[in-house]
Amino acid sequence: MRRVESGAAFEGRLVVVTGAGSGIGLATARAFAAHGAEVVCADIDADAAARAAGAVAKDLGGTGHAAQVDVSNSDQMGDFSRNIISEYGVPDIVVNNAGIAVAGPFLDHAVDDWRRTIDVNLWGVIHGCRLFGAAMVERGKGGHIVNVASLAAFAPSRLLPAYSVSKAAVKMLSDCLRAELAGRGIGVSVICPGFVSTPIASNATYVGPDVREAAVRGLARRGYPAERVAAHILRAVHRNQAVVPVNLEGKIGYVLSRISPAAMRGLARWSGIMRNRGIGR
Ligand code: NAI
Repeated sequence: MRRVESGAAFEGRLVVVTGAGSGIGLATARAFAAHGAEVVCADIDADAAARAAGAVAKDLGGTGHAAQVDVSNSDQMGDFSRNIISEYGVPDIVVNNAGIAVAGPFLDHAVDDWRRTIDVNLWGVIHGCRLFGAAMVERGKGGHIVNVASLAAFAPSRLLPAYSVSKAAVKMLSDCLRAELAGRGIGVSVICPGFVSTPIASNATYVGPDVREAAVRGLARRGYPAERVAAHILRAVHRNQAVVPVNLEGKIGYVLSRISPAAMRGLARWSGIMRNRGIGR
């Protein structure tokens, strides 16, 4: 940890962050840059990616590159990984962070709501792991892959069925990949935050009752900054941690899911109360 705090712990490392235009991805890109890394800020929103890369260079005096990519699109991800590798080299660290939320009851989710959620949240991570994982193995110098899941990976919820399924799959994928790549010197960490005060609630799609305003307000009120998640991500790489629950509800949910899955199922039935109070994840 001391080296992470020293300010140069990631000097000379190339880091790719997806969804770097906002929230946790932006904070993570900035944190790696502040610790000496060269950072590729990738996002589906080209302007947001450019602003993130600009901030890395301007505010932090680091080296930031912007890239536009839709992580759910396998062709785009193939081009993206080839371009990064040919222009800057094989990344040492890849943070598969880009994600979206669809909130509302299962019976109000359309097929397209499921498709888009799984495409971005799960396939986006699969593409990132496949393409950059293979390049790391071929290079033979190790590396680290960080996948951003959620408390939703182990906390069932009647408000976020598709989102929770996608995050549970990311958690399992990360555990499988960690086992496979351990012998290659490549670490895999999965980050599972509870509620974090980012624009995710305003960017989300709401099906069924419209709770957008309440969700946006509730998440802002939670007051847990993306920068603290970023610090956990840097620490996870530094210590090669497997599963990293983040913040109070993330940690309680993780422990409870291990000692009493029945309690988690019971809590899921009560999650309508949280919705009424406008707390979304
Ligand atoms: P955010 O909405 O602030 O940022 C998400 C970023 O991903 C945006 O810049 C967006 O343009 C980008 N993005 C969306 N779809 C994309 C695609 N197809 N290809 C490339 N980029 C895309 O959200 P936030 O909160 O920063 O979320 C980041 C990750 O953290 C997500 O995976 C989310 O599920 C996860 N998370 C967030 C929590 C929260 O309470 N904010 C809690 C637990 C996990």
